[in-house]
Amino acid sequence: MLKFPDNFLWGAATAAYQVEGNNDRSDWWRWEKEAGKENSGFACCHYDLYELDFDLAKGLGHNAHRLSVEWSRIEPEEGKFSEAALKHYVDVIQALRARNIEPVVTLHHFTNPIWLADSGGWENKKAAAFFLRYSGHVVRALAKYVRYWITLNEPTIYFSHAYIFGVWPPQKKSIWKAMLVKNHLAAAHIKTYRLIHRIYKELKLQKPLVSIAQHMQAFVPCTSSVKNKFAAFLRHQWFNLGLIDNFVRHKALDFIGLNYYSRQLVDIEKWGIRNLFADVCKSTHHPVKKNAVGWDIYPEGLCDLLLKLKKYNLPVMITENGICTPEDALRWEFIFEHLEHMHRAMERGVPVLGYLYWSLLDNFEWDKGFGPRFGLIGIDYTTQQRTIRESAVKFKQVCQTGVLSNA
Ligand code: FCB
Repeated sequence: MLKFPDNFLWGAATAAYQVEGNNDRSDWWRWEKEAGKENSGFACCHYDLYELDFDLAKGLGHNAHRLSVEWSRIEPEEGKFSEAALKHYVDVIQALRARNIEPVVTLHHFTNPIWLADSGGWENKKAAAFFLRYSGHVVRALAKYVRYWITLNEPTIYFSHAYIFGVWPPQKKSIWKAMLVKNHLAAAHIKTYRLIHRIYKELKLQKPLVSIAQHMQAFVPCTSSVKNKFAAFLRHQWFNLGLIDNFVRHKALDFIGLNYYSRQLVDIEKWGIRNLFADVCKSTHHPVKKNAVGWDIYPEGLCDLLLKLKKYNLPVMITENGICTPEDALRWEFIFEHLEHMHRAMERGVPVLGYLYWSLLDNFEWDKGFGPRFGLIGIDYTTQQRTIRESAVKFKQVCQTGVLSNA
């Protein structure tokens, strides 16, 4: 039996574009059509059904919920802010508060307004200033009800998928552009961090807690060769910690938001810059279970990463951790084992604030469409019927009691 702290945050995460539906002012909306991808369409109709969904979360024992605000709704045209959209998100946050669910609000979760995309997206040197202006509007409207802010979701995943691998809009493949975007995102975070603190001070509110949600993988050397160990170290430093180090230097992190899903087995063919950053083991000599889209399930990686974050002396929140699978029993096994490993790290002194499962609902998984099922709650996309999965009921026990037991 494992016991978690009394005030621990338990819940799940979502992102606006993946659940709301009809985000037709967003660059993804246009891109999914142009690129011939599955369309997000109505998604989970969460824009209209949020109260129902929060009732379900409440019924599942959640006391926290992460959601994102869709920039393209708030600012559909450059410099024109929609009062109706802002009001909508005030209602959403109040609906959480009314259910005693702590909101964790993300300002940028991969999507941009079309006008921003058309003016160069995050390559535009004004992008950080645009983001700051938008964030100011949102934070002023929601400050009274929100304590936890995430400025950017997975900036490293965003710039690598959109500007290096070229699989997300705007589908560029340029290291140079990617680095430019990375710098603009970093500037946006630092400025927004300071702005949020300033607003809370002006409004005489209790200090907010601001972070990013950083995607981290467990980089595991496939053999103990010097090459592999060095490459795994390098990747960890660069992909996992690079931005965190930068923000800590700028005193622009109040906690660390950690999104953890999987491991990467590092096996490099030869000394070479590309090899060091990209080669992975292709053999099957370290078999582990996988999720429905082929990601290795590696719960021990969560403990390892948390221990590696101890040096920052900052609390950590698991802002995402989850599995897409058609087998719900595997979902519970996944949650159970990750909670065990999280607890192990906590016993060794890592201050963890909360655990937010990805995701509350099945949803639109970006370029992979609606196929992957991550939800604690299943969605029938033709009827919008919600079905609570068995894993959600098992997780509920933990959320309600703060105890993880085998029984
Ligand atoms: C993360 C994203 C989230 C979701 C999960 C599966 O990288 O932040 O939106 O797609 O992966």
